[in-house]
This record gives sequence, structure tokens and C-alpha cells, in this order.
Amino acid sequence: MEQQDLFESQSGPIQKQLEALRVAISYHNDRYYRHSQPEISDQAYDALFRELQALESQYPDLLTPDSPTQRIGAAPLESFQKVQHEYPMLSLDSEIQREEIQAFDRRVRRELDVESIHYVVEPKYDGLSVELIYEHGVFIRGSTRGDGIIGEDITVNLRTIRSLPLRLSNEADAPAHVGVRGEVVMLLQDFQTLNHRLRANGEEPFANPRNAASGALRQLDSHVTASRPLTIICYELLGTWMEWPASHWERVSLLGKWGLPIPVHRRSCSSIEETMVFHSEMAAQREQLPFEMDGIVIKIDNLDWREQLGEKSRSPRWAVAFKFPPRTEITQIQDIVLSVGRTGALTPIALLTPVEVGGVTIRRASLHNVEEVERKDVRVGDTVKVERAGDVIPDVVERVVIPGEIRGEPFQLPTACPICQSAVMQEGPILYCTGQLFCQAQIKGALEHFASKGALNIAGLGKKTISQLVEQKLVKDLSDLYALTKAQVLALEGFAEKSAMQLIDAIENAKTIPFSRFLFGLGIRHVGTHIAQVLAKSFESLGHLMSARKEDLEQIDDIGPEIAAAIETFFDAPHHQSVLNRMWERGVSVERLDGQPQERLVLTEKNFVLTGTLENWTRQEAKQQIESLGGRVTSSVSKHTDYIVAGKDPGSKLTQAKQLGVAILDEEQFKLFLQAKSGS
Ligand code: IVH
Repeated sequence: MEQQDLFESQSGPIQKQLEALRVAISYHNDRYYRHSQPEISDQAYDALFRELQALESQYPDLLTPDSPTQRIGAAPLESFQKVQHEYPMLSLDSEIQREEIQAFDRRVRRELDVESIHYVVEPKYDGLSVELIYEHGVFIRGSTRGDGIIGEDITVNLRTIRSLPLRLSNEADAPAHVGVRGEVVMLLQDFQTLNHRLRANGEEPFANPRNAASGALRQLDSHVTASRPLTIICYELLGTWMEWPASHWERVSLLGKWGLPIPVHRRSCSSIEETMVFHSEMAAQREQLPFEMDGIVIKIDNLDWREQLGEKSRSPRWAVAFKFPPRTEITQIQDIVLSVGRTGALTPIALLTPVEVGGVTIRRASLHNVEEVERKDVRVGDTVKVERAGDVIPDVVERVVIPGEIRGEPFQLPTACPICQSAVMQEGPILYCTGQLFCQAQIKGALEHFASKGALNIAGLGKKTISQLVEQKLVKDLSDLYALTKAQVLALEGFAEKSAMQLIDAIENAKTIPFSRFLFGLGIRHVGTHIAQVLAKSFESLGHLMSARKEDLEQIDDIGPEIAAAIETFFDAPHHQSVLNRMWERGVSVERLDGQPQERLVLTEKNFVLTGTLENWTRQEAKQQIESLGGRVTSSVSKHTDYIVAGKDPGSKLTQAKQLGVAILDEEQFKLFLQAKSGS
């Protein structure tokens, strides 16, 4: 058999199978994302998807660009290619006053010399406009607006958008070449979920859905885009084709028939007055809509008339945006307080004289971070402009300068967390509370992380249970987890005899834990699984790590100054040392790399000073012994010193220690002390 025949005879049935899977997946995708009416379960969908993935990896030659598997992202790009738009991407003239809209209507009627005009009105979506190109029904290219003439090729990113069909549904009807214009947006609910996720990961949230959508589309790694929930709405069919209707309304309906998502809220109006009714209705509904819109677009329906009117340099003469009044208002700042997030980030919040902005009363607005407060120079008593931009909490846009006003003091940077009084540390523009393990604002997040798969992996300790434990004050810091009783768990909502016992057992089993998982579980800033493993390999025990200084940590590969500082700060916090201490007391045992238990850290919170010469130990050995039990060796005596170990020929440190009433151990006593403490 010829090589070619062999290929065909093998690929024929496979190709059919691939095709069947792709059609089925696209169909269910469309049911789910465009119609919100799934017909099969998520599991069944995933099973189909995995089957297709497996088959495609077995037959890579048969992979096609419109395969649903392309939605999960492709290899990262170095940069975006430039593409010239087929039709210039114009923008719209926008008006805010009814009179201006009436003037627009008069102008176009005069120019066309007609009595009345049919308009189509659509929401003006607040997102990013894109051009989509389909060839023979297959989505082949998509680009950003750019300068209106040349945009960036974001095809791979657009493929990840579930509501964008990779193939038109009435492919046979679709002409060989279709250009479409639409808007990529992030639905408000998706935006809030995403910001929640970003905050939980200690990342900066987006200010509004538009920025979030834009951030997602501009990713060179389309896997990131795929992880961000985007939606597309198509509102213009580009170009003319003999068979295409000469009415915008019908052209958009045609897009819908091809399976493209089109505006749900659109209306055909026989006069400009009717468009104004639509404007008022949408303005009234604005707060309830699942997407952000900043006005409506009024378009002449008749394509011939559109052509007759033509375009100005950057906007068409046949359409106008009728914007909503901005959702901004002026008010005063009554106070600036700090809110502590689950990651410990301190966000300055302005408490305002209540003001109504777009139908909602605003009492608080975010100042984002301390640098923003400084940059905007806002102070208590100032008059400010506030804006609602789709985010849960509105923004302080700027200070309104009032000539001759007497101003309050500049905002003082806090030195302690308002919730737990721990020291704060600044990283970039953000201040963090360092009381990670016991700060009440962070404790739920800390517990969820501690119990999670990569850390202690405690089955049955989910969000809901953690919430109850914290709210009922059964758990105030991580160590309290190990003091829970079955009776306490039983009293929680959703627990029965058996499940309560299972949770207690799971916590008991998690008492013995590998070093790196324990470290990861502590949720030290910047210490993810990788750094936790690096630390576990570099330090014999937790005790050694706890007494390591920034400079020691920075010597280790992969550990830079920021990570080193975060680790030092974490273990230096006296509160953390007591939380860890209580863990040991409650039976937690961290394993060495070889699986042997580490020494119990009985000396945490204890400071030692060594002086003179010891007969049976070098300085280094003595230091290591102390550190392996969690103690710290410092070079000078202070009121924080707990013990001084005095060998032969002690120096002035001994005199100082005596003056301060520090406990003194000679070599023999030191030996006995260590033996007693380590239980050997
Ligand atoms: S039509 C030639 N329809 O508004 C006019 N634009 O300021 C083509 N936009 O860049 C635009 N919703 O990103 C049109 N239903 C809609 C729209 C819409 C939002 C955006 C679009 C455009 C901007 C104009």
C-alpha cells in the first residue's frame, strides 16, 4: 500500500470520530455558555473533552484550529503580531444630553432628506472591541482595536473565550469570508469571583471589569487568558455581500443564526423618541444587569443610508453613543480606616459622608494602598470625587481642591495592624500585617491554606467548617486546631457522630508532618511549595530555620532578599513563636527529610548568650544544639536574654547578665539543661 493510502485508511475513521467529538463538545459548549441551558453534566462534558484531547495527542496531525481543545490556551507568545484591520475600527461620537441626540436625528434626516428614520439601539458595552474573521465558517483571526487601522493579533487568546464559536453553526450558509465586530467583556459576577481569587492569592485585584478584561486579553500566555472568565458580544457584521440583508437589525440576527452571541437587550425603534425610552429603561436597569454598560448606541438600521452618510475621520456619521451620566459624585472624607484582608494586606478605606451615586448610597470607598493615599494626597475632611466602576466598593478618584480650605493632617502610615496589633511591613505599595497565624482577619485564610492539599491535607476541614470554628471562637490561631474535641466538632452545623470523629482523626493524623509541607502550610509570604522544599533541604530542622538570619537565607539558591526578609519577619514575631510552641505542646511533630521526627522545639521564644570557652563543645556546636530546639543565640546580653551559658574565662557579658538577673548556666548545667529539655 502507498504511504498516502495507508494514512487515509487509518485516519478516515479517526477523523470521523474526532469530528463527532468536536461537534458534540461545541454543541454542549454553546448550550452552556450562550444559552445557559446545559443538557449534560459538567463531568460528562469533561469526559468528552478528555477523550478528544487524548485522541488529538495520539494524532497530532489531525489537530485543527477550531478544535474545542484550543480553548485551554496555546504556547506562550514572544509578542503579539500586528494585523491590519479589514475595515477601520472607528469609534463613536458620544453625547450625554437629550438635545444633542435630537440634534443628531435632525441632522441625519436633513442629510438623507427623509421624514423619519428607523434606528436600532443596543447597549454600549464597557469592554474591549475586537475584530473577528471567519473563513469558510472557521474562526481564523481576531485582533484588538489598536490605533483603529492596525491592531494586535490575539487569536489564541480569543479562542479561549467559551461564548465565541470556533466554527459558525450554519457553516454552509456562511460566506467564504466573514468579518465581525464585537466587544469582549467580563461579567460582573465573574469579575467579583476573579478579584476574590486574586486577593486570596495575595495578588492585586483589578479596579473594574473593563481593566480585568483588558488584562486578560493582553496576556502573551493564553493559558492565563483561559483562566479568566471572558464573554463576547457581537454587534456589527462587516462588509457587504449580496445576499446579506440591508438592515442592521437583520444582519445582527444573522450573526445570531451563525451561533455568535449578539446583544440580548436590543430594540428596533421607529423614531428618535423611542431610542430615548430605551435609554431611560436601560439606565434604570443598569444596576441589575450582569454586565457593565456606559450608555446605549443608536444606529441607523438602513445600510444604504449608512453608506450614503459615510464616515468622518474617526467615527461614523450614522451612529451615536448616548451615554449615561457618570456614576461619580462629590462628598467628604470623614475618616480613613484600614481594612485587613485575608492575605494580611492593609487597605486604606475612606469613610464618607453618605452620598447617592447612580442609585446606590455610598458610605465607603477604597483608597487601594498607602501609596495611592499619598499620591492623591487625600486627608480626613477633604472633599473628594467618588466613582462606582462596577467594583464592589467604589473608588476615590481625586481630591477636589477648594481654595482657601483648612486641611487636616496627612494620613499617618500605620505601624501596627488594627486587628491584632502586630507590626506591619511594606512590600511595594502594599502594607501587610505580619500576624499571619493569629490575626483574626487572616485566620480563616490561614486555616484554609494550612488544611489544603499541598500542606496538611486535612480531609473534612473545608471553608464552611473553618468559618464556624473561627466565628464560634473555637479556633483563634493555628495551634487551636489541635485542641479541638469531638464534642466541639459535633456541635457544628453539618456534623454527625461519624463525620466529627473522622475530622478529629484526620487532625490527629496530620500531627506528624513532613518538614516542607509544614513550612508551606504556615503560609509565610512568598513561601510556596517550591521554596518550602528548598528550605526543608537547606535546614536540618525548623529550629535551625527559625534562627536563621536574612543574610544566611539569602545565601541559598532561589531565595532573594524579599523572600529572606519575609521568612525572618515571620519567625521573629513573638506571637508566631508562641503559636508554634503550642503546636509542639499539642503533639505536632515535624519530620526531617529522612522521615525521622525533628527535635521538639522546647526552646522557642528563649534567647541565649554564650560566653567563655566550653570544654566539650565548640561555640558552633553549642549554638546548633540550642537552635535545633528552637532557641536563639544572640551575641549581646539584653533584657530579652533568658540564659547565659558561661564557660571558662567568661567576659564582661557575664557581669552584664548578673546585673540584669539573667539565669546563668555553667557547662555542666547547660548539658543537663539540654538533656532535660530534649528528653534524652
Ligand atoms: S458599534 C463604527 N455597538 O464603543 C462604530 N460599538 O466608542 C462601531 N461599543 O470602540 C461600533 N458597545 O468598543 C458598537 N453595541 C455596540 C457597542 C460598541 C460598545 C464600543 C466599541 C467602540 C466604542 C465606541
